[in-house]
Amino acid sequence: MHLVFVTGGSSGIGLALARAVPFANARVIDISRRGAPGVEHFRADLSEPDSWPRVAELFEREMKGFGGDGVFLLHSAGTLDPMGFAGEVDPTAYTRQVLLNGAAPQVIGDAFLRAAMGTTVPCTFLNIGSGAAHSVYEGWSGYCGGKAGADHWVRTVGAEQRRRGDRCRVLSIAPGVVATSMQEAIRATPERSFPDVARFQALHDDGELRNADEVAGELWKLLTDGDLENGAVVDLRDR
Ligand SMILES: NC(=O)c1ccc[n+]([C@@H]2O[C@H](COP(=O)([O-])OP(=O)(O)OC[C@H]3O[C@@H](n4cnc5c(N)ncnc54)[C@H](OP(=O)(O)O)[C@@H]3O)[C@@H](O)[C@H]2O)c1
Repeated sequence: MHLVFVTGGSSGIGLALARAVPFANARVIDISRRGAPGVEHFRADLSEPDSWPRVAELFEREMKGFGGDGVFLLHSAGTLDPMGFAGEVDPTAYTRQVLLNGAAPQVIGDAFLRAAMGTTVPCTFLNIGSGAAHSVYEGWSGYCGGKAGADHWVRTVGAEQRRRGDRCRVLSIAPGVVATSMQEAIRATPERSFPDVARFQALHDDGELRNADEVAGELWKLLTDGDLENGAVVDLRDR
C-alpha cells in the first residue's frame, strides 16, 4: 500500500499525476481548493498560511505509524496569477502568489519531513519545478522567485537528508511546457503584462506543448525507477 499526497491534484499536471499512480494499491489524497471527481480531497487554499498547520496535521495523522510500502508528496500547486510587472499588479494578489509559489513548498515540505519521522517506510517529496527558476520572464516575478526558492530549498534539504542517511528523498523536476489551464492563461495575457506572450502562443500553434498524461507517466517513471540523487533539481527536457 502506498500513500500519495498531491497538492494541486485538481487540475493539469497534479491531476494527471493523481490518475497515473503506478501502484496497484494506493490511497491518493488531493490537497487543493476545488478537488477532482474520483480523487479523495483535502480542501486547502495553500496561499493562506492558516491552511499550512491543517495540512501538517493531515500528514501527521496519516503517516504516524504508517506501515505500507512508501509515501509520496507531489507538490504541484502553483499559480501565475497575477501576471504583470512587480509594482504594477494588485498587491494582495501578488502576496498570495508569493505565499503559494515561494513559501508553501518550503513550509509544506518541512511538515512532510517532520511527519516522515513517524514512519519507517521510504518517503519522497517531489516539487514540480520550472525553467522559470533560472530564466527571466518579465511579468512572472512572483512565480520566478518562488520556483527558484523552491529549487534551492530542495538542493539544501536533499544535502541534509543525505547526511541523515537518506531518510527522505527530496527532488524538483521541471516538466517542460505542458498543455494545462496555466498555459491557456499565459496565452490570454496582454503583451504589456507578459512581453513573451507571442512565443508561448507560437509554441501552442506549432503543437509544441506536451500532454499532461505523458508528462505524469515520465515523472512517475523517474520517481520509481530513476536514480536521481537526493536534492536533485532536473528538467524533463534534459532527460
Ligand atoms: N503547464 C506548464 O507548462 C508548466 C510548466 C512548468 C511548471 N509547471 C508547474 O506545474 C504545476 C501545475 O501547474 P499546471 O500547469 O498543471 O496548472 P493548472 O492546471 O492551473 O493547475 C494548478 C493547480 O494548482 C492548484 N492551486 C492553485 N492555487 C492554489 C491554492 N491557492 N491552493 C491550493 N492549490 C492551488 C490548483 O488547484 P485549485 O485551483 O483546485 O486550488 C490546480 O490543481 C505548477 O506548480 C506549475 O508551476 C507547469
